[in-house]
Amino acid sequence: MATIQYIEALGAAFLGYLVVAREARGAGVGSSLARRAFQEVLRAHRAVRRGRPLGAFGELEHLHGRSRFHRRRLRFWARLGMRPLQIAWRYPRLEPGTRPSAMYLAFKPMRPGQVPLTRERMSSIVRGIYAEIYPQPRARKVLRRVLLSIEKGPARIDFRDMPEEAR
Ligand SMILES: CC(C)(COP(=O)(O)OP(=O)(O)OC[C@H]1O[C@@H](n2cnc3c(N)ncnc32)[C@H](O)[C@@H]1OP(=O)(O)O)[C@@H](O)C(=O)NCCC(=O)NCCS
Repeated sequence: MATIQYIEALGAAFLGYLVVAREARGAGVGSSLARRAFQEVLRAHRAVRRGRPLGAFGELEHLHGRSRFHRRRLRFWARLGMRPLQIAWRYPRLEPGTRPSAMYLAFKPMRPGQVPLTRERMSSIVRGIYAEIYPQPRARKVLRRVLLSIEKGPARIDFRDMPEEAR
């Protein structure tokens, strides 16, 4: 299963879930599902706008202790052209009472020359993603924290440097 949502206001998409049944993993199903999801972004974009979509965004877990599991995961996404951006992304935990989780916001550009992104562009992308994906009122505080960190960060946002083994 893969879920991807085209966000018309951004001309970009957000990849929600990608899951393959345990017994079917490691045979290329996940990669082809992801590629198919990216094709859907092109199709959805062409239905409403000219030119190419900005790209696809998604959330990836941090390299906790740089575990082998997380490195494999980042490598999987890097092979598909999706890499973590240099912003302090936070995702509002969906269950009340739990803390927001720090994740990487990853990006697969689909238009040439889209990275680095300016601070202003990044802020409007983050607003667009939250408006569409996390509209619940308790997410607003988390959104403000993300925007603040972008304001205080570099003027241009590029991909993160990843450890060699995760590239
Ligand atoms: C990630 C996932 C969809 C990959 O599906 P798949 O059909 O095995 O993918 P492919 O066969 O195309 O690619 C296999 C690659 O995925 C890597 N991989 C294994 N487990 C993984 C995981 N949990 N997350 C990411 N990549 C993983 C493998 O290491 C392999 O790469 P390698 O050859 O460099 O070792 C599948 O492992 C899965 O459903 N995981 C649980 C859900 C998940 O973590 N989804 C992603 C976030 S929503």
